Amino acid sequence: MTKFADIKGFVFDLDGVITDTSILHGTAWHQLADSLGVAWSKELGDGLKGISRMDSLEMILKAGGKENDYTQAEKEKLAAQKNTNYVAEVDKMTPANILPGMKAFLDSLRAKGYDLSLASASKNAPRVLGKLQLADYFPKIVDPATLTHGKPDPEIYTRGAELLNLPPEQCIGVEDAAAGVAAINAAGEVSLGIGDAKELGAADMVFSDTAEVTLENIAKKLG
Ligand code: BG6
Ligand code: MG
Repeated sequence: MTKFADIKGFVFDLDGVITDTSILHGTAWHQLADSLGVAWSKELGDGLKGISRMDSLEMILKAGGKENDYTQAEKEKLAAQKNTNYVAEVDKMTPANILPGMKAFLDSLRAKGYDLSLASASKNAPRVLGKLQLADYFPKIVDPATLTHGKPDPEIYTRGAELLNLPPEQCIGVEDAAAGVAAINAAGEVSLGIGDAKELGAADMVFSDTAEVTLENIAKKLG
């Protein structure tokens, strides 16, 4: 098991970890599901966390038994419609939308010389980081458009560690989604989950709130 002293880098998810865009994604998908006549549930919403735009749409259509009702072109139009609604909300964001403690955590990582990369499935990640004024912290971003597989496949976290030139076991991956924790574990990194311990039971460590995520608390859990 990796010790705290072995850790040299952090690979971050964005939505639901650094800022609460997971709520904005959920609201925009919920609106689209309503317009398609697909019943919404918390389970459906939670299952979409960390999942790419087109895969999310497929999951919603499947939940409503409508997976064969649309052509590829129509699906792309639906996904674009969701994205337009989502981006309109993102454009209202400011640094006040950074989740509690996260700016201080990022500053502490910088001060202690840890290297950072971003492993978000979102094609809007650079735009969100810009709105939060955090672009400087993440010059190393995995481009989700270049991936073959989405979370829970390890590819995005493997690439996140490669951007840091670190072996995976020297990296902590930070996630709010079960699919993301599975991806971190499969990449051989240490998984830090933020959220419901039941939902994120596969993580090496879980914090219920972003405000608890500090280097001191991580050191205590890792030993
Ligand atoms: C992930 C979110 O970070 O990005 C998902 O958790 C979202 O909810 C996915 O669907 C893709 O985002 P985007 O911005 O490319 O549609
Ligand atoms: Mg997330």
